[in-house]
Amino acid sequence: MVQSTITAWLKKPATVAKPDESIPAPPASTNNDPDPPLITNNFSLPPLPPNVQLVPLTEDLMPGFQRLTALTLPVSYPPAFFAESMTEPIHSITLMATWQTAPLSPEPTLNLEKPRVVGAIRCRLLPSSTLYISTISLLAPYRSHGIASHLLQNVIVKASNAHGVRSITAHVWEANEDGLEWYEKRGFEIIGKEDKYYNKLKPSGAVLVRKWVEVSDLLPSADKNGPGTT
Ligand SMILES: CC(C)(COP(=O)(O)OP(=O)(O)OC[C@H]1O[C@@H](n2cnc3c(N)ncnc32)[C@H](O)[C@@H]1OP(=O)(O)O)[C@@H](O)C(=O)NCCC(=O)NCCS
Repeated sequence: MVQSTITAWLKKPATVAKPDESIPAPPASTNNDPDPPLITNNFSLPPLPPNVQLVPLTEDLMPGFQRLTALTLPVSYPPAFFAESMTEPIHSITLMATWQTAPLSPEPTLNLEKPRVVGAIRCRLLPSSTLYISTISLLAPYRSHGIASHLLQNVIVKASNAHGVRSITAHVWEANEDGLEWYEKRGFEIIGKEDKYYNKLKPSGAVLVRKWVEVSDLLPSADKNGPGTT
């Protein structure tokens, strides 16, 4: 059964309640003529804000990823979760969304501003060609700009092209109605529920959602002028 297989395979993190997010500088005005980001936009999404890049996780981004996770999710992830994010073989299917206030210069030495991690999607490849989303979150001021949708689309394309992934699954805390709605609007369907999935959350259950990779997920971006295109 899909549900129990995934549960058995995954190591569930400890869970603790977290305080409200501290708000970093909000996405203010955008810049012109940014460098092309490292990863392409996808088909029907509006372009990424020009200050945003989607990049693989690196050691210098790790503190930002840890902070993001602590601030945005009610689950406390152990150090091993972050260590494995760097060492697991399919490293590139975990992506960070970084924010820079100043426009990027073509001359790297002029890019003095350190990118800030404002969002992330952390994935694992499961047996049977399934991509599992361990976490996806955005700092609150950066939400509703399509950044999480771009993160999702980019990992789907990568995982499908490079690893033959055919479906994507995730657990969503049963009390996270907004999170569940976000997944459902992106083609995920509920395929199960697991009681007592989260040790320290009340309610403790998780909903398991799944989406099949569709042709439309893999089409190139229709918007070739957006800042997220190459
Ligand atoms: C769920 C979550 C990751 C979504 O992140 P996000 O970056 O806001 O997601 P998106 O911007 O891609 O989509 C959010 C909405 O903004 C809308 N949006 C996207 N770009 C927009 C823009 N430029 N202007 C206005 N609205 C926009 C989208 O249409 C979407 O609305 P819809 O869901 O009704 O279609 C984020 O809310 C979050 O971090 N939540 C807390 C953690 C969590 O619950 N994680 C998921 C479950 S584990």
